[in-house]
Amino acid sequence: MITGPCPVKIAPSVLAADFSRLGAEVEEVTEGGAELIHFDVMDGCFVPNISVGLPVLQSLRRATGQFLDVHLMIERPLRYVRRFCDAGADLVTVHVEADTPENIRAALDGIHACGKQAGITLRPGTPVEALLPYLGAVDLALVMTVEPGFGGQSFMPDMLDKVRTLRRIVDGEKLACEIEVDGGVTAATAPLCVEAGATVLVAGSSVFGKRDRAAAIAALRG
Ligand code: DX5
Ligand code: ZN
Repeated sequence: MITGPCPVKIAPSVLAADFSRLGAEVEEVTEGGAELIHFDVMDGCFVPNISVGLPVLQSLRRATGQFLDVHLMIERPLRYVRRFCDAGADLVTVHVEADTPENIRAALDGIHACGKQAGITLRPGTPVEALLPYLGAVDLALVMTVEPGFGGQSFMPDMLDKVRTLRRIVDGEKLACEIEVDGGVTAATAPLCVEAGATVLVAGSSVFGKRDRAAAIAALRG
């Protein structure tokens, strides 16, 4: 599992970092107390934006020992999960909407076969029920609190109900599954996520957009 001294783990999203100095940016947030690094991969098909992929992940892997949490916003992720594991991901999350249930299961199995952790996630418009069949088979369930594709959007408070539902089920069934939130997480919205049951908070702009990263991370812990 993702480990760390605090019950709530902070995952700065490098989408908001300066990519020309990615290693230094990651080192700074690591020293500032971040437990993991969130790495967003966009293919221009599943979402209307393109970010970074395998070579950048490989470079980052060489630059840091940090836990790398890779969020694949790509169509038919089964094609690529093994390569992202080999490139250095510690955890790979796939979208439930990105393929058939059979192929999503195969993608999760493929990640585990590489000895890495697997996560499942959903768009804001997808009901939480879509994740439930996978909960026993994943290490992390991610609730998107913005429409995937872009950083710097406003938090969607309606998504907190999904977090509450997942927390009830994970606790009720004693599942070893972290609950992560991603999008619009700030010092103001983080406490709502934690109160609803999230244990991992992804934050792009509210960490990399601040000069003092340690203070920004501390502010997210409330
Ligand atoms: C959005 C990405 C997020 C993004 C969050 O598609 O999945 O990880 O970086 O950025 P902020 O924290 O700025 O909303
Ligand atoms: Zn993300």
